[in-house]
Formats: sequence, structure tokens, C-alpha cells
Amino acid sequence: MQKQSLPQSRQTRQSLDVLILAAGLGTRMKSKRAKVLHELGGAPLIAYVCRTAQALNPDKIYVVVGHQAAEVEKAVKAEVGSLAEFVTQAQQRGTADAVLSARAQLDNRNSLLVILSGDVPLLKAETLKHFIEDHRSGGATCSVLGVRLENPTGYGRIVRDVDDHFVRIVEQRDATDEERKIKEINSGIYCFDSGKLLPALDRVKPANDQGEFYLTDVVEILLAQGEKVSVYLHSDAREVSGINTRAELAEFENLLRRNTIRKLMLEGGVTFLDPSRAYISASARLGQDCVIYPDVAIEGGSEIGEGCEIHSGSRITNSRLGSNVVIKDHCVIVDSTIESNCTVGPFAHLRMGTTIEEGAAIGNFVEVKKSRLGRGSKSMHLTYLGDATIGEKTNIGAGTVTCNYDGKDKHPTVIEDNVRIGSDTMLVAPVRVGGGSVTAAGSVVTKDVPPDTLVAGVPAVVKKRLKRREK
Ligand code: UD1
Ligand code: CA
Repeated sequence: MQKQSLPQSRQTRQSLDVLILAAGLGTRMKSKRAKVLHELGGAPLIAYVCRTAQALNPDKIYVVVGHQAAEVEKAVKAEVGSLAEFVTQAQQRGTADAVLSARAQLDNRNSLLVILSGDVPLLKAETLKHFIEDHRSGGATCSVLGVRLENPTGYGRIVRDVDDHFVRIVEQRDATDEERKIKEINSGIYCFDSGKLLPALDRVKPANDQGEFYLTDVVEILLAQGEKVSVYLHSDAREVSGINTRAELAEFENLLRRNTIRKLMLEGGVTFLDPSRAYISASARLGQDCVIYPDVAIEGGSEIGEGCEIHSGSRITNSRLGSNVVIKDHCVIVDSTIESNCTVGPFAHLRMGTTIEEGAAIGNFVEVKKSRLGRGSKSMHLTYLGDATIGEKTNIGAGTVTCNYDGKDKHPTVIEDNVRIGSDTMLVAPVRVGGGSVTAAGSVVTKDVPPDTLVAGVPAVVKKRLKRREK
């Protein structure tokens, strides 16, 4: 049998590296926080760029960090793990200087180097693949991804000569009035032959209005050396434009949000009473026939089952809902699980790993923390359940409090199946109420209650043994 050979492209394929520029503070954000850490759709900007880079299946991802390096590194690692290698740019002296801070890493790699900015979150891997293909097939040393903008203000302009040949990139602040009229701009996304990029970078001078080392100057340098430099024009301006201000961040947020909701309506079969007033994270999942009322936020990786109703003013963060769950108005649900056929609210607060089992109900002004409410159980009014494990078909009366905190430590409360906790019962933890028992209204329960027993008083004492009820 003939030995199978690898496809030509694979055999001769130069290694592919991605370098992400993320050291800048982003002055125009007017923030103490590094720009790439600002969030879009609940995730930092840098996370989107990392995801796109990873989709190219590169050999390496280098990330140039500076401002809030530790936080940026954490955000990158959360997305791509050990695929990323970090280089530090101590002082932000410009985009050329940023690339040069990875000199030791890039030296002798002779790779195809894709350079991205950490502030371009909507860029698609598909676009980059076409761009890289164009760069490879054209045999260019450097390719610049350009785009035409109706309003090119702020961007570097792509300057061409009378024969339409690409000659250089000029920044807005260094451009003549004539050059400022150019609508073709540099997106800040490039492909380079890394072996030829490094020596060209060494020749960049900070001869511009900002006194910075501009990566864009290598275009002219490479052209002067007779290298082939090309522009790849992309049609979707929004996709490749970066975020520089909070106004742009808000615009992107809106766009992303509208796309997410549109997709949920058209493909997911979810009803939104007012799509313009729903806030659904791009990574959340909603089942068919859910109905979302106005002013609902579903954040993080929340998963909502089929046929759920989420009413106005509720916020659900990193939580899971089964099917046919009704969340009434103004609930806050964080890091919790609600199984199918439950109702919650209005005005309930569930948090820190709470689980509400199938068919259970939580009502008005009830806070539940790190607790489990068993199947078919109810806690309908003015109650705090913390560090509590509650069995099935148990009713928690109005105004019940699990007194879980003694000023120093937190203690558990266990309430077994078929219990009736009377209104205004204080359960002083650690404490256990046995199955089938009843606490009278106003009891302060300081000791364990045996099964099938009525307790009452302050502190609560046994009043009588109860006949075992039908379960
Ligand atoms: C840059 C381009 C401009 C292009 C625009 C597209 C240059 C000189 N200009 O301008 O032609 O139209 O992007 O968005 O490159 N960074 C560092 N270290 C630095 C400086 C910047 O890591 O010393 C990072 C920033 O964090 C950012 C990226 O590089 O992620 C781009 O820097 P930014 O200051 O936003 O460049 P622009 O002025 O937008
Ligand atoms: Ca920018």
C-alpha cells in the first residue's frame, strides 16, 4: 500500500502564532480599570479576543500585558488556559514597542504572526481565517486588515499613491487635512512574517505627535526594503472596530444583547414581552416557550429550562432552572438551582448554592442561603432560611428564622419531612426538627425536636406526642 502523505499545506505549514496587545490602560475609557477588563455581555473584552485566537488553532498565543497585568492574565487563563504565554511591557511606549517586548519569544520562530488588539471583541475567527489565507496565498510579508468607515475619526488611515498602491498608515493626529478625508482605515489586525517583522520594528522611531513607537510604521519600512505589503479589505466595519470609549462599549453591549435576544426568539422559541428591556447574557441558555417579562436580567451561564415564566424586575445569575418554573416579580437568584414546577417570589432572594427541589414554593420576602428545600415543601412569607436542609412536604410558617449565626460561627438547621413550622418560629442552630413534628407559633426552638412531636414556648418544650399522620 502506498504511504499516505500529509496534504501539501500541512506539510509546509509555517507555525502560526497569535500576539494580542493588551498592555494599554485605554485612556479614553476614563477608568482606573484596564480597558480589556471592561465587560461586554458579562465577559471581559480580552476573553472574546482569546476565544477568537484559540479558534485559529495556533501554536502559541502571546499576550502583551502591562496595566493590571495580574488581572488580565487571570482573565486570559480562564479562557485559554496554558496556551497563552505572557510578556510584560513595563511602559506603554506604543504598539511597536509592545510587540518588541515579545522579542525573546518571537526570535527564531519564523512563524506567521497574527497581531490582534485586546479591545476588538466582535472579531470572528472566520474573518481571520480568510485574512490569513489571503496573506499566505499572496506571499506578502505583511498584511493589514482594513475597512471602510463612513466616519473614520480616530483611526489610522490607509494612504495609497496615485496608482492606488498602499504606501503607509498615518494616525489621525499626524494626518494632513487631506489624509483625514480617507475612509479606509487600519483595524489594527495584521499578519506578519515574524522573521522580517523584528528587524523592521528595530527601525521604528517615535517621530510622531505622541512620541510613541508605532507598529503601523513598519509598513513603510518593509515597503522600502522591497517587501510585499498588502491590505485586505473587510466588509463588516463593526466586527473589526475596537472599543475605545464607554459610549462605544454601550453600543456594542446593545448590539450583542439585541443579537442574543433575536436568536432566542427566532431559533429558541422564547417569548420576550419587550425585547428592548431584557438583559440576557450571551452564554445563558433558555428553553423553548419561556416567557420573559420586561426588565429581566439573566446573567452568566444561567440555564433556564422549557416553559418558564420570568416576571419583571427579576435577576438570575449563574443559576439553573428546570422546566415550568415561575419566577414572580422582583426576585434575585444567584448561584442556585430551582427544579421543575417550582414557583418563587415575588420579592425572594436565593443565593449561594441554594436548591429548591421539584414542585416546591418560595414566596414573598423569603431569603434562602446555602439551603435545600425538599420536594413539594413551601416557605411562603417573610422568612430567612440559612444553612438549612428541609425535607419533603414541609411547611415553613410566616416569619420563620433559622438563627444560623452565633456571632462567630454558622450552624446548620435540619427540618425533616412533613413538618409544620408555626409562624414566627426561631430555630436556634444547630438544631434538628424530626419528621411529622409541629412547632407552635412564636416558638424559640433551642433543642432538637423528636419526630411526631408538638413543641411550643420560649424556649420551646415538648407539649405532646402527635399521632403519626398519613403521609
Ligand atoms: C491603533 C493603530 C491605528 C488603528 C487602531 C485600530 C497604531 C499606532 N495605531 O491605534 O492605526 O486604526 O489601532 O483600533 O498602532 N497597546 C499596548 N502597548 C502600548 C500601546 C498600546 O499593549 O504601548 C495595546 C492597547 O492596549 C490596545 C492596542 O495596543 O489593545 C491598540 O492600542 P490603542 O492605543 O488602542 O491604539 P489606537 O490609538 O486605537
Ligand atoms: Ca484602539
